[in-house]
Amino acid sequence: MAKHDLDPNYLDPNYEPVVNHSKNTPFHQVLAARMQRRTVMKGTVGAALASVMGLGLAGCGGDSDSSSTANTSDAPDTDVSSTELGFKAVPVSTANEIKVPEGYSSQAFLPWGTPITGSYPEYKPDGTNTGAEQEQQMGMHHDGVHFFPIDVKAGGNSSTEGLLVMNHEYINQGALHANGATYDVDGNRPADEVRKEIAAHGVSVVHIKQDSNGTWDIVFGSPFNRRITGNTEMDIRGPLRGYEKLITRYSPDATETRGTLNNCAMGPTPWGTYLAAEENWHGYFANSDEIQPREQTRHGVGRSTRYDWELADSRADQYVRFNVSTLGETAADDYRNEANTYGFMVEIDPFTPESKPQKRTALGRFGHEGVIFAPAKEGLPIVCYSGDDSRFEYIYKFVSRQPYYAATAGGYLLDEGTLYVARFNDDGSGDWLPLDLEDAGFKARVDAAVGTDVGNVTGFTGFSSQAEIHLNTRLAADIAGATPMDRPEWGAVDPNTGEVYFTLTNNTRRTENQVNAANPIADNENGHIIRWMEAGNDHSATNFEWDIFVFAGEQGTETVVDDEVIVSLTDDNIFNSPDGLWFDYNGRLWIQTDGRDEAPYQNNMMLAANPETREIKRFFVGPVGCEVTGVVTTPDVKTMFVNIQHPDGNWPDSSDPRPRDATVIVTRDDGGVVGA
Ligand code: FEO
Ligand code: CA
Ligand code: CA
Ligand code: CA
Repeated sequence: MAKHDLDPNYLDPNYEPVVNHSKNTPFHQVLAARMQRRTVMKGTVGAALASVMGLGLAGCGGDSDSSSTANTSDAPDTDVSSTELGFKAVPVSTANEIKVPEGYSSQAFLPWGTPITGSYPEYKPDGTNTGAEQEQQMGMHHDGVHFFPIDVKAGGNSSTEGLLVMNHEYINQGALHANGATYDVDGNRPADEVRKEIAAHGVSVVHIKQDSNGTWDIVFGSPFNRRITGNTEMDIRGPLRGYEKLITRYSPDATETRGTLNNCAMGPTPWGTYLAAEENWHGYFANSDEIQPREQTRHGVGRSTRYDWELADSRADQYVRFNVSTLGETAADDYRNEANTYGFMVEIDPFTPESKPQKRTALGRFGHEGVIFAPAKEGLPIVCYSGDDSRFEYIYKFVSRQPYYAATAGGYLLDEGTLYVARFNDDGSGDWLPLDLEDAGFKARVDAAVGTDVGNVTGFTGFSSQAEIHLNTRLAADIAGATPMDRPEWGAVDPNTGEVYFTLTNNTRRTENQVNAANPIADNENGHIIRWMEAGNDHSATNFEWDIFVFAGEQGTETVVDDEVIVSLTDDNIFNSPDGLWFDYNGRLWIQTDGRDEAPYQNNMMLAANPETREIKRFFVGPVGCEVTGVVTTPDVKTMFVNIQHPDGNWPDSSDPRPRDATVIVTRDDGGVVGA
């Protein structure tokens, strides 16, 4: 595909190596399970039929609490409280431009290279901006994004001024440099190219404001404008702080590291900070040792890196750290443990520009796609969910030890608690399995696994401490008996019902022998969306009931519950590979795709869904070659920000030969609520 030609390092949906060879929930267990209600997916005529079981949850919404919201802002005042979809569906498109419904407008904003800090160095379309300049400009490959109202800390919910915070997942070296990535005769890379690539990763905080004509712009010179990159100093927090396997030459006491990388989706916390997710971080590290430790093999760390940063010709410390081979006498003499400082959720306080980002290791170490918080309730624990986007990996939940109080809430709540992993039973029930050595059931499974092969690890040697579980979270989940999923991407919590939704983007490696009720399709090339209700609608509960919200696919793909066709996809809503997922403040569900951009689906897109009726309509189509990822609105739901990642051609500026990832601002021409 064209995007591969442009960028040999393009992170295609098949990039993540399959490193889970555990045999959790084999097929015979599915057959043995007792059916209660049936959810069935039907393809078009002649296509194979896949049967699933699961409790239909439509209409069992539990206590509606319209005052609660997963966001930092109060529930907005709007003229529209229903979740009906009031716009006309947008057709599929192959155009190299944004498509929105009639009566809506769109505009590209904050493209890669836009100056936002320091001396505001101008973007150069010939690719000659330096590494130092890139450190003051928007990064590449925009992904998760959130709008923090400027007055949110004071209890306000401004819809005209705020901090837009977003991730930059990875890079297109061909577009980033004048002549792509270069090497000298010895195979080394110019250090400034490497500096620029590291700077094009990370997170941007941009203070933005709407003028009286409705136009949004950067607040130039604002102290909030900030770039966090793959080289920014960060603290290690939680159970892995000070742990010996995080000792490096940079941090002999294992309390610090540098940078965050491959940041995919995100999650705003209830106290007004931003969590960036570290997803495919393994590809940035190389280990040439004969034997690799399990904390690398279970993630697919290889013998070479995607971008060869460790080969920077200066051999400066911030570059050689990506070589995680054993080179020195002790761990404090080399970077054998550098990869152990990645794989976390990273907390950034956008309102405190001098604050150091914090890696929250209590939430586990894996390929974090993002995180979604349940509505915070005074005096109760904080609960958040995070998916591990790789084939046959898992969905996790963290429940804080300390209760939430709005007046004193902060990142410390994320440093102590219980990490659970999900098991989706075939009868539509589900269990949260604690990854906690103090839990007798889990401890017994760990002890029984010693000496056996677990995941892709031969001869499991046990866990010597709880810290080992936070370092080897995937391995702990294998042992707990979690359900291997079809690549969990974003999650979202329905602000009206409390139900939790997750996209399962696709998994073409799943065989007939590996299907389970929650992942019922072999060679699942289109993906599906799962949802569940926690017992008693208590997000800290240890069991739940789940349902499949919709199966993606072409025209005629049906989602059937109890023999009733609940969804049948048409020209208005065919899609594949759901990825981004977000509930707006009125309770409409936004679904973004990162899939096969070919007929009949064409370019990647965003759809809106009514969670009550499961009506789904295409709202937005992106330009050629992109994925559509990251969506948020202002609290009044009248300005929407949508991110376009890795466009192919000369988008958004047809006169610029370089594609530029950008945010798209979508508004309704009559000033109304988006989606209503
Ligand atoms: Fe970065 Fe799983 O998408
Ligand atoms: Ca992405
Ligand atoms: Ca994604
Ligand atoms: Ca994806």
